[in-house]
Amino acid sequence: MKFFEADNAGMEPAAEAENNIRLINASLAILENNKIVDALAKPLPHVDFEDLQRKVDQNFLVDASSITTRMARFFHAISGYKNPSNIFVAGSFQANSIVWLAGGSRLSCRVIGVDPDVEACQVARKNLKAIGFNNVEIFDARAEDLDCAKLDEIQLLLLDADHPTQGKRINIDILEHLKPRLSPEALILAHDACWPSFENDFKEYSQYLRHAFPECCSIKLALDSFGVLVTQAKIAK
Ligand SMILES: C[S@@+](CC[C@H](N)C(=O)[O-])C[C@H]1O[C@@H](n2cnc3c(N)ncnc32)[C@H](O)[C@@H]1O
Repeated sequence: MKFFEADNAGMEPAAEAENNIRLINASLAILENNKIVDALAKPLPHVDFEDLQRKVDQNFLVDASSITTRMARFFHAISGYKNPSNIFVAGSFQANSIVWLAGGSRLSCRVIGVDPDVEACQVARKNLKAIGFNNVEIFDARAEDLDCAKLDEIQLLLLDADHPTQGKRINIDILEHLKPRLSPEALILAHDACWPSFENDFKEYSQYLRHAFPECCSIKLALDSFGVLVTQAKIAK
């Protein structure tokens, strides 16, 4: 498994924070215009992100991550927009993506992270406990093997698994497995959509989306060199 150290992680200088906020607001406007998020919804204020950022900086142990601060801000903001009661993260590693989604949502939101890396799951649990996030459960398992009967309806899904041989194609198996548990208006985030070595995996993933969710609408946001594909599933039930 190869991880990439994010080029822009941790607390940003003020000018960079301002630029990141501008880019996040522009991205949210694109999602609003494409009816991927509700125009009436509003995320938590940026100062809430910065409070959480300080806590994470002081308490989290993360060996490696490709989550940049700009992406962390985006996860926090999109979670606030969606206001989910259930979040699911496939490939939660040491919780450095789940923390921003959980932090942007209400405290009553149930958040589940799944990763087959047992040691990373232990670190994730410790990290989340250190900042008092008691609404997050971490399971050491492959997301596509998790017993779906145990899950509530998922409103926000982050796909960030990276399989040793299948790479990001694993997203297809995971999404196919979780599909029956998605809410009709579920938002699906697929991280690393701009990373060059995953280009073919994302082509296959996009084909799968068009086939499995014919009404879906997707936008690729090149927020950083990793990027994220945001999909409104629009499932007829
Ligand atoms: C790029 S890392 C995820 C980074 C993470 N989201 C973060 O916060 O920094 C990819 C993770 O996917 C996990 N993974 C691989 N196959 C998986 C599967 N089938 N289901 C869930 N996670 C998987 C790996 O163990 C690894 O921890």
